[in-house]
Amino acid sequence: MVIMTATSSATFLPVLERIAEEIGHTPGRGRPADYIPALASRDPRSFGMAVAEPDGTVYGVGDWREPFSAQSITKVFTLALDLAREGDELWEHVGREPSGNPFNSLVQLEYENGIPRNPFINAGALVVTDRLHTRTGDAAGELLDFLRAESGNPALDFDTEVAASETAHGDRNAALAHFMASYGNIDNDIPVLLDQYFRQCSIAASCADLALATGFLARHGIRADGSRLLSRSQAKQVNAIMLTCGTYDAAGNFAYRVGLPGKSGVGGGIIAVVPGRCTLCVWSPGLDERGNSVAGVAALDRFTTLTGLSVF
Ligand code: DON
Repeated sequence: MVIMTATSSATFLPVLERIAEEIGHTPGRGRPADYIPALASRDPRSFGMAVAEPDGTVYGVGDWREPFSAQSITKVFTLALDLAREGDELWEHVGREPSGNPFNSLVQLEYENGIPRNPFINAGALVVTDRLHTRTGDAAGELLDFLRAESGNPALDFDTEVAASETAHGDRNAALAHFMASYGNIDNDIPVLLDQYFRQCSIAASCADLALATGFLARHGIRADGSRLLSRSQAKQVNAIMLTCGTYDAAGNFAYRVGLPGKSGVGGGIIAVVPGRCTLCVWSPGLDERGNSVAGVAALDRFTTLTGLSVF
């Protein structure tokens, strides 16, 4: 990992500095997630943003080195890790359409025979983690190893307090998992799966870590060490699903405002990809009513406006 500081040249650093300045003057940051008590105590005024270039250079502004709860951002990495192993068979168990419903919604599952709409709503992520767990024997461990390797940060770890907090408030995810199991779409025992999923979500990482870990999607499937995780076509597929489903029932508005594949988490982080050019991660814990970081979406909106970079 090459860390650029404010004194070295980094292509987008002036843009990031301008965005941080603008965000600093913008009132109204939303509210941190309160359904997981361990997340509720974060200060909504925190703000960090990092850019990682395909060669591993990373730089940022504000709280870009501060670890936060990655939460649903991890769903991108488990999807990639599972897709790399089982390929298109995965799509017999989870769809690729936006849901138009909140991330933890149950309502579509019965109409659609226990097949979740996409891998980024909770139901779909549970299916992906279940399948990755069957293939590896330790889905969360596989994910952690991947994130450590791609970020170059061996200190990344699960946050046991967050995972325990989720387990204590896990009725809805348990309901989703049991319901899908009734359709034969879950292989593992539900407590085992939920433990894997909650530990997956609890991983604490910074904007720098997550921007670097997302790099394989800007490099068309190539990992930090030069090996291939996904085919070029699979990397395109993951980016496409991030664009259409990565911010839940706000994905249309995110595409409209930002114009990049992106994935949010209720910890207040959002990753985004400019294919072939760079990856971004922004963090600010205040969320809108759909669970997306208010300042995070605004910052990415400004980034694509100021740089002219988007997939459109
Ligand atoms: O399943 C949950 O409730 C959380 N662990 C993850 C939710 C999440 O980040 C959804 N995102 N915006």
